[in-house]
Amino acid sequence: MTTNTSGAGERGGAPGDASYGHILGTGVDTSHGAILYLEDITVSFDGFKALNTLTLDIGVGELRCIIGPNGAGKTTMMDVITGKTRPDSGTAFFGQTLDLTLMSEHQIAHAGIGRKFQRPTVFEHHTVFENLELAMEMDKRVWTTLFATLTGEQRDAIAANLELIRLTREAHRPAGLLSHGQKQWLEIGMLLMQEPQLLLLDEPVAGMTDAETERTGELLNELRGKHSLVVVEHDMDFVAAIAVGGRVTVLHEGAVLAEGSMDVVQNDARVIEVYLGR
Ligand SMILES: Nc1ncnc2c1ncn2[C@@H]1O[C@H](COP(=O)(O)OP(=O)(O)OP(=O)(O)O)[C@@H](O)[C@H]1O
Ligand SMILES: [Mg+2]
Repeated sequence: MTTNTSGAGERGGAPGDASYGHILGTGVDTSHGAILYLEDITVSFDGFKALNTLTLDIGVGELRCIIGPNGAGKTTMMDVITGKTRPDSGTAFFGQTLDLTLMSEHQIAHAGIGRKFQRPTVFEHHTVFENLELAMEMDKRVWTTLFATLTGEQRDAIAANLELIRLTREAHRPAGLLSHGQKQWLEIGMLLMQEPQLLLLDEPVAGMTDAETERTGELLNELRGKHSLVVVEHDMDFVAAIAVGGRVTVLHEGAVLAEGSMDVVQNDARVIEVYLGR
């Protein structure tokens, strides 16, 4: 495929690689109520522990915000979940039965974990609609002729997705002409076309305008309950907007420093010290 994959140089993926989630009919066993279990995960880089016995559970349909100072291990945690980085020790399970530490990045994406990296990676020369269509093609893993006739059901799915990501009016514009924020929404839409059970978003509103940030908050609130979401963000106003009624986890030095409602963590003396002490 000769499409533009801007941003592929980041610690991230490009369209078409394994980080684009995919779910098979087999499903994930979430009978105990959680979609993700991390226990005592440690990751060392040359003796430095980026993660240090990190333990974290994510509930089915939960929208969990993860905050913490630079270098706390937030992105490394996502690297472990997606199989990009292997932990030195600890366990990571997707549902009750899928041991993520034994699966390849591709298998993990296939099992239903989608990941959005910080920089948008969309096919710039294709229209918004075509980008969503390509994401659906990837999902089927059927590399038939691109843009073969879509079924009515597929068209409806794309139309619904366009509404959700607020790009209905941009559907037939090349993705390269979108604003930074709109590209981020498109990439979220592409991930959603593959119906991931768990969606990981690393700093989704970085570089967005205030208006785009606000709309992204609304979008994520609409996804709550339908998907399980883990959102890493530094923008505290944004976190407050999507953490309503949900839990916030504060990472520090590779472990959980505090966890609870936004209110509780914001007033936690250790959290205040970590943020003010910088
Ligand atoms: N591949 C790597 N090799 C060596 N050190 C690494 C590697 N990846 C991460 N680190 C280090 O591990 C620590 C945690 O990094 P990580 O990127 O997970 O932090 P973060 O919480 O995502 O920070 P930020 O908020 O700045 O994105 C940092 O000290 C970082 O320098
Ligand atoms: Mg990071």
